Amino acid sequence: MAVKHFLTLQDLSIDELRAVIDRAIEVKNEPTLAEDQSKKTLALIFDKASTRTRVAFEVAMTQMGGSSIFLSNADSQLGRGEPVEDSARVLSRMVDCVAIRTFDHGKLQRFAEYSSIPVINALTDDYHPCQLLADIQTYTEHRGNISGKTVTWIGDGNNMCNSYINAASQFDFELKVACPDGFEPNADLLKTHSNRVALFRDPAEAAREADLVVTDVWASMGQESEESERINSFEGYQVNAEIMAEAKSSALFMHCLPAHRGEEVSAEVLDAKDSVVWDEAENRMHSQKALLEYLLKF
Ligand code: CP
Ligand code: NVA
Repeated sequence: MAVKHFLTLQDLSIDELRAVIDRAIEVKNEPTLAEDQSKKTLALIFDKASTRTRVAFEVAMTQMGGSSIFLSNADSQLGRGEPVEDSARVLSRMVDCVAIRTFDHGKLQRFAEYSSIPVINALTDDYHPCQLLADIQTYTEHRGNISGKTVTWIGDGNNMCNSYINAASQFDFELKVACPDGFEPNADLLKTHSNRVALFRDPAEAAREADLVVTDVWASMGQESEESERINSFEGYQVNAEIMAEAKSSALFMHCLPAHRGEEVSAEVLDAKDSVVWDEAENRMHSQKALLEYLLKF
């Protein structure tokens, strides 16, 4: 059977995505049900910082009896310019799965093209599909099926926002994106999924009657030098109590974290009872366990 990668949500069918999320809920409730992955090794190639993703993958492998090897740019030959095509072929002969966090999505795609083992996108400049597994799991646990619901994204049209567009199409929900001029998500994605996604300039209007409000940092990893300029550009795009008041009274708030209280989200909203960010963070581990289990079957 051909090797299966997880570079975007579109790499799995909706049935496969639902199966992974259902399984994540199952292994969260009964961790001993997770399949034994002893003797399996996951390599983690990270060109950017991480707390949740790295720890979630490493703990997931440990709990399933397998192991993981963390490779940063500082300590692998990739960091010294060894081609990804060569690294992919070498690692394919030693480990069972690779999770990559990097800048250029093309680099991840090239690695996958030359890899004979599953490759997982642990975040690129363009997408963060693993986070969406956790987010959909979290919504499902708190409110049931997300299909047919209204989700509002407020802030930067970044990697998380692009993955929300993919999720809207796969899980069949309506996505309203509110962002300032010049900070829109990927134009081709917007066009492809225009039946599920609408663009707004006014965050309050976008949040009206939403079932879920989501945001993320205004300056992603790699954009540190633009931080102060971006704080000005995103003025008025903070998710605060006023914005949440526009949403349904049952609306949840999500943020992939790390968060900047007082910038993209007020402390009041982040720490409120309808904020499910800690469950979201925990679910990174359960959903990645389910994803690894799924991909390692092929
Ligand atoms: N949400 C997320 O991916 O967090 P880390 O950057 O800590 O992995
Ligand atoms: N958009 C953020 C997400 C971090 C998990 C970034 O890419 O830095």
